[in-house]
Amino acid sequence: MTASSPLELSAPSQADTIAAYARLAPEYDDAGHSTTRALERLSAEAFRRAAPLTHARTAQPTLLELGAGTGALTREVLAADGWSQLIATDPAPAMCARLQTLLGARTCVEAHVLDAAGALGAFGARADVVLAGLADPFLTPDTLDAAHASVRTGGVLFVTVPSHNWAAREREGRLGISVDRTRFLLRDGTPLEAASWSYDDPELLELILDAGFRSIGAGTCTAELPLHDARPELAWALAIRA
Ligand SMILES: C[S@@+](CC[C@H](N)C(=O)[O-])C[C@H]1O[C@@H](n2cnc3c(N)ncnc32)[C@H](O)[C@@H]1O
Repeated sequence: MTASSPLELSAPSQADTIAAYARLAPEYDDAGHSTTRALERLSAEAFRRAAPLTHARTAQPTLLELGAGTGALTREVLAADGWSQLIATDPAPAMCARLQTLLGARTCVEAHVLDAAGALGAFGARADVVLAGLADPFLTPDTLDAAHASVRTGGVLFVTVPSHNWAAREREGRLGISVDRTRFLLRDGTPLEAASWSYDDPELLELILDAGFRSIGAGTCTAELPLHDARPELAWALAIRA
């Protein structure tokens, strides 16, 4: 099948995407997933650059993390000062179990098996800051609308995704798959595909503004070194519900 085949023109469904991450969870942190590791470093850099917690309406905000996975961004949050409660969520139970191990028995943190829509519905109104690092499996206009509908005025939204510029080169160029998906290889060689929405930062910001948020900032972080001939790149955006 070629990248231009009609069968490859639509991204994997949400259910298939969650199932892929659930299957991947025990291996997700393997060093062999070098692209993911590079994107995680860029996402952490974006978190430090954007400093979302400093824009919260209260000094000790409640944080809601969507699609927290095994906790690459959660680790940054846990190391940061200035928050009172962290509600970390992910729809893949095996991801959430690993997240729970990272969080341990602290009373100020909790983990829930919920997708972005479910998490926003259950906890969005309590959240002063909503965080979604490497949110490419679910960062669609519907998710942004759900965030805007659930978060109260003054709520802050911080998101990161692979840049479209890099994703097109990596996926259509190197991997020969469509740009709306990512592919992981399990240790036994089994390929897994999941939806992956990539945006360059102006487009990401536009989507967020279209959902009704007001911009605080946006940017791009680029890896210093190339991986498979291209420097991984990530877009981030920070916005507030006006
Ligand atoms: C690329 S990983 C990123 C994990 C983590 N946020 C990080 O920064 O490393 C994406 C995560 O999104 C989760 N996910 C997939 N579909 C989702 C959905 N509809 N809502 C919320 N999370 C979803 C996956 O289970 C996976 O853990």
